[in-house]
Amino acid sequence: MSLFLWLASQLSSCWSNISILGVFLTVFTLLLDFMMRRKNWSHYPPGPVSLPFIGTMLYIDFRNPHLSFNKLRKKFGNIFHLQNCWTNVVVLNGYKTVKEALVQRSEDCADRPYFPAYEHLGYGNKSEGIVVARYGHIWKEQRKFTLSTLRNFGMGKKSLEERVAEEAGFLCSAINSEKGRPFDLRFLVNNAVCNVICTTVFGDRFNYGDEAFKKLLQLFENSLNEEAGFLPQLLNAVPILLRIPGVPQKAFRGQKAFMDFIDVLIDKHKETWNPAYTRDFTDAFLKEMEKGKAAEENGFNYNNLRLVTADLFAAGSDTTSTTLRWGILYMLLHPEVQSKVQAEIDKVIGRERSPTMKDQVSMPYTNAVIHEVQRFGDIVPIGLPHRTYRDTMLQGFLIPKGTTLITNLSSVLKDETVWEKPNQFYPEHFLDANGQFVKPEAFLPFSAGRRVCLGEQLARMELFIFFTTLLQKFTFVLPEDQPRPRQDGRFALIKSPHPYLVQAVPR
Ligand code: HEM
Ligand SMILES: *[C@@H]1O[C@H](CO)[C@@H](O)[C@H](O)[C@H]1NC(C)=O
Ligand SMILES: *[C@@H]1O[C@H](CO)[C@@H](O)[C@H](O)[C@H]1NC(C)=O
Repeated sequence: MSLFLWLASQLSSCWSNISILGVFLTVFTLLLDFMMRRKNWSHYPPGPVSLPFIGTMLYIDFRNPHLSFNKLRKKFGNIFHLQNCWTNVVVLNGYKTVKEALVQRSEDCADRPYFPAYEHLGYGNKSEGIVVARYGHIWKEQRKFTLSTLRNFGMGKKSLEERVAEEAGFLCSAINSEKGRPFDLRFLVNNAVCNVICTTVFGDRFNYGDEAFKKLLQLFENSLNEEAGFLPQLLNAVPILLRIPGVPQKAFRGQKAFMDFIDVLIDKHKETWNPAYTRDFTDAFLKEMEKGKAAEENGFNYNNLRLVTADLFAAGSDTTSTTLRWGILYMLLHPEVQSKVQAEIDKVIGRERSPTMKDQVSMPYTNAVIHEVQRFGDIVPIGLPHRTYRDTMLQGFLIPKGTTLITNLSSVLKDETVWEKPNQFYPEHFLDANGQFVKPEAFLPFSAGRRVCLGEQLARMELFIFFTTLLQKFTFVLPEDQPRPRQDGRFALIKSPHPYLVQAVPR
């Protein structure tokens, strides 16, 4: 009995120790949380009340984020703040606000948030790729190198434009072999667009229907979906969770598989490398790497080669092919627009010759249609996150250094104060009274400023050449038994059409 009493007293004192410890820990963590959360800056943009630890994350429905954001914009205006755990986020809406950040305050807003989760993909100090690289000299070197390498492509061989035209030809043959049956364009178009990046970066293309390519697409799609989910956001906001064994592997399975695929392509490539003869982007990069220490410091190292090439794939394939799929979808829904484009093609190019970029200036209507596809398709609705590089002012609000900025490109492309019919497909947005092509300043599908899309020139070339070649050779119609395709998209970083079937009738 006495033993029992003794035990009980020990237990209760232990228990009270635990509860004292508990109280202490709670107070301590609340204090820590209080200190980590934003200070009371004056002139900081308004926003919802944030809770300890989770900040304002509960206000966002991660399945339907745009609905939550619409509510917040109505309540707080074009510039409001959120808090992802301890990360300060400011959301920018409307042409005026977004342009001020991207163009007038371009350098102040040119940094990217740091994503600790990417360290598992080899992201480190001198290997950050381009897309999520911090603003600084390594990013500048890599961006300059990539731009000029893409631009100079050809080196006596085929120019980039010729490659695109050639691929458009392959695409048309593949569509022809569908023999007018209803089919989903997605695989063929993805394949064609991906081939442009593949030949440029790795000097090789995939045949249509290739199994390895289908696998790549699947991996890629998985990794995009993964990225947009709740778990990665949480992990980036609270990186300590990444230390839990198994968590990063589970959260980033798709991305890891995608990187493995890139590794295979690079390794194959290195085996056949001949320094005297530059075949493609990877060769040009390997050549820079040979230049020694200084080059290494500027990001020309193996780890970064993986990340830069993965970036070019990630940023350059799905974007362009999704835009083209929106384009064909709008042609199904607006056959009268399709006929007008075809009439212009017949007049300027004819039925035989391949379209070239020179034709663009004589084809204002087609050009306007392609721009309207990009505006209305609005495929990167909230752009990529930026981060303030130093304290800055936007619309009279103070945005401290290190704040994550969401530039809502959708709110620019559909800004009611700029566009005549923001929520309709209306190519006349890009035509003046004389039918000449005009480009309103609020056309920002590629964003703007220092971080503007690096592939803009290439993307425009691809859109023009693929789109005109397709409409030169085919008329796209909705199969009789098919429902009218939906105009709203599916959103996972990129807004893409719901799957639809189409019939391609040869002209
Ligand atoms: C229709 C097609 C495309 C659209 C709509 C598009 C859109 C965008 C947008 C909105 C951004 C974010 C800019 C910002 O942070 O403010 C971006 C960045 C980027 N894009 Fe594109 N893009 C397209 C095609 C391409 C292509 C074909 C390539 C590759 C050659 C490419 C490579 C990049 C890269 C590397 C970045 C990161 C730039 C940086 O952070 O410095 N994009 N793109
Ligand atoms: C961006 O703007 C669009 C259109 O105005 C809106 O529907 C969406 O909710 C906004 N998203 C964010 C993140 O503010
Ligand atoms: C990058 O380098 C700096 C200093 O050279 C160091 O303090 C920092 O921890 C490094 N970061 C990573 C992710 O390796």
